[in-house]
Amino acid sequence: PTARLALDPAFAIGPVRRRLFGGFVEHLGRHVYDGIHEPGHPTADAEGFRRDVIDLVTELGVSTIRYPGGNFVSGFRWEDSVGPVADRPRRLDLAWHSTETNEVGLHEFSSWLEKVGSDLMLAVNLGTRGTQEALDLLEYANIRGGTTLSDQRIANGRTEPLDVRMWCLGNEMDGPWQLGHRSAEDYGKLASQTAKGMRQLDPSLELVVCGSSGAGMPTFGEWERVVLTHTYEDVDYISCHAYYAEKDGDLDSFLASGVDMDGFIEAVVATADHVRAVTRSEKRVDISFDEWNVWYIDRFEGVDKITGIDDWPIAPRLLEDVYSVADAVVVGGLLISLLKHADRVASASLAQLVNVIAPIMTEPGGPAWRQTTFFPFAITSRLAQGEAVRLTIDSPTHPTARYGDVPLVDAVATHDAEAGRSAVFLVNRSRTEPLEVTVDVSALGDVTVLEAHTLSDEDVYAANTLDDRERVAPHENTSATAADGVLTVTLPPVSWSAIALG
Ligand code: AHR
Repeated sequence: PTARLALDPAFAIGPVRRRLFGGFVEHLGRHVYDGIHEPGHPTADAEGFRRDVIDLVTELGVSTIRYPGGNFVSGFRWEDSVGPVADRPRRLDLAWHSTETNEVGLHEFSSWLEKVGSDLMLAVNLGTRGTQEALDLLEYANIRGGTTLSDQRIANGRTEPLDVRMWCLGNEMDGPWQLGHRSAEDYGKLASQTAKGMRQLDPSLELVVCGSSGAGMPTFGEWERVVLTHTYEDVDYISCHAYYAEKDGDLDSFLASGVDMDGFIEAVVATADHVRAVTRSEKRVDISFDEWNVWYIDRFEGVDKITGIDDWPIAPRLLEDVYSVADAVVVGGLLISLLKHADRVASASLAQLVNVIAPIMTEPGGPAWRQTTFFPFAITSRLAQGEAVRLTIDSPTHPTARYGDVPLVDAVATHDAEAGRSAVFLVNRSRTEPLEVTVDVSALGDVTVLEAHTLSDEDVYAANTLDDRERVAPHENTSATAADGVLTVTLPPVSWSAIALG
């Protein structure tokens, strides 16, 4: 089969904001302890952070990192995580049925962020706590000094404010599994009150209100409408969360997960714009897609892991999914979906970063390595610059059980006029057929292929594991050529590709 595409930078969608390539670190399983922090590891620095992990996170190219949860945040007391480490309390983490030692807290994590070159996006606890505790944390983090809480931060070793710009007003408050779960009405009122208070302290903050935990939630749509009706003037973004997995051997539907993400984003945009119309508002609320990934573990796995009143392990192995080539193709496809909505998705966080449904894995005392999903994220983050550009796509389709007929190819482009560079990102969703793709790039002038990467494998379930850490990696796609205003490339079955032009 063949597909014909056309790229014209005149069809710009919106700027490629760096925040689209955000990450998420939750105190969960071996993410923080034994993941990013392992004082006894041969590569550990003076603060106990693994240098091999710092290098991989830097290579991944993650911008803003959401912290410290996730479900964890809904029972978290932030004060536990600051001050002398020896004095910090050990707490029950009800979300993941673990013991939280608080050995790594706000200061240590901020220091780690400086090492990896990422910004902090903080979530406040609106599960078991409320407005006052959120204000206290904001004061501790962002006020320069001269108040009890800001002076405590200084006494704890941080003279300069953390100056956290982006804040999440709780986490997944629509989910019955969430500590402090409440109705859209109740949450909307609490979020509005908390946002107003936070803005009294600092009007320039960027605030994210909780949308649905997934488009499959029974309250989806209505939750967004009610919550935004209470908070429209108070917030900047509404969150989306989505996890995908191959179910019952239905690879075709799984490979088309981007179709679902497209629909999800468009439904939330429509709902937000509806509230805008009803409230006659002048402003526009955009999306923070602050949890997205492939995840094979049942949503309630944390609850299933409850093994008894006496069993509260520290950093147990939880949610350690091993990702295949097919999973990486889906992750690459989801990045295409996010870029296609760069006008309304202002920020996104791959969930998560190390060991826990993560692109990076570690063994205690041992190596750190890249999962298959690492590659499409790292390459897209590096090559997507300037403006996201909509392509015209004329592609054969095939039937899927979940989404009906879907195009075999999905794609988006970016264009950086200043640097004179463009990039095209593509997936071939066919399980069996290579796709011959031509892209009319005549609007770009005389361009050549600078880089062409493809991730594919004869075994779509191949993965990188502790014993075979480099089994899967992208290869150069030597079929990609650009001549006389036409880019041609062959996309193998079940593949993700990125081609840089200039
Ligand atoms: O990322 C894992 C969990 O998924 C998060 O803690 C929660 O917000 C979501 O349900």
